[in-house]
Amino acid sequence: MPEHSLPIQSLDPEKLPRHVAIILDGNGRWATSRGLPRIEGHRKGAEQLHDLFDVFLALNIPFLSLYIFSTENWKRPRQEIDALFQLLSFFIDENLKIFKKNKIRMIVSGDISPLSNAIQNKLNSAIAETAKNYLLTVNFCLNYGSRAEILRAAKDAILSIHKNQTAQDLTERIESISESEFEQYLYTKDLPDVDLLIRTAGEQRLSNYLLWQSAYAELFFTPVFWPDFSKDDIFQALLDYQKRIRKFGSI
Ligand code: IPE
Ligand code: IPE
Ligand code: MG
Repeated sequence: MPEHSLPIQSLDPEKLPRHVAIILDGNGRWATSRGLPRIEGHRKGAEQLHDLFDVFLALNIPFLSLYIFSTENWKRPRQEIDALFQLLSFFIDENLKIFKKNKIRMIVSGDISPLSNAIQNKLNSAIAETAKNYLLTVNFCLNYGSRAEILRAAKDAILSIHKNQTAQDLTERIESISESEFEQYLYTKDLPDVDLLIRTAGEQRLSNYLLWQSAYAELFFTPVFWPDFSKDDIFQALLDYQKRIRKFGSI
């Protein structure tokens, strides 16, 4: 990895987050502030992901969730939506080899059924081809929204219990559902809770992202637009995280 103004050595390896989630925001503003079409911001934003993967691999941070497209983003102009999914398709074509070489596993959270068959197939084969990789799991959140995820999980949990139980003890069984059992129905069932949630571009809101999983996450907001978010900005977020005292309700 190239030299940085903030060397890796300044981070305490014992106090790194295991799961970092990022709301990559500000692609549009980055582009319009340069007189470019919004999609140029998305394109530059996708390039920034390489720096992020490098840093996570170098630091052995095993889980990264990326908010790529929300359940609310369908409100955007059709042209921008199409361009975003075309960019995703290029991104997978360009990066599958790199993922395999670097032992990066790709997973998806969200309902991909409204996406084109071509993109669904591409996603499913990238997921299958990287399934055994273990150094870094990158969770692409696509057509993802926490409320939809939690509602789906609730329905699936009840349906699965209903299928497997006799009528008499159904109520008792449903009442016995624990948090950890319920989590098995979330898209993120194989991931630990979010330790650090980063949002770029100055907005200080969660926009329906990983609400269950971030119940005790440390939050980091930065005014930097996503396409400008550099390795130094990642280090800054990690350094800031290491200064936090995580209490989880205790004293
Ligand atoms: C985030 O950048 C990327 C996606 C939501 C896909 P935006 O497109 O939201 O950028 P701004 O907020 O308009 O600047
Ligand atoms: C959140 O960003 C969604 C993604 C980054 C994919 P938005 O830009 O869509 O969120 P709002 O609309 O500002 O809350
Ligand atoms: Mg935005």
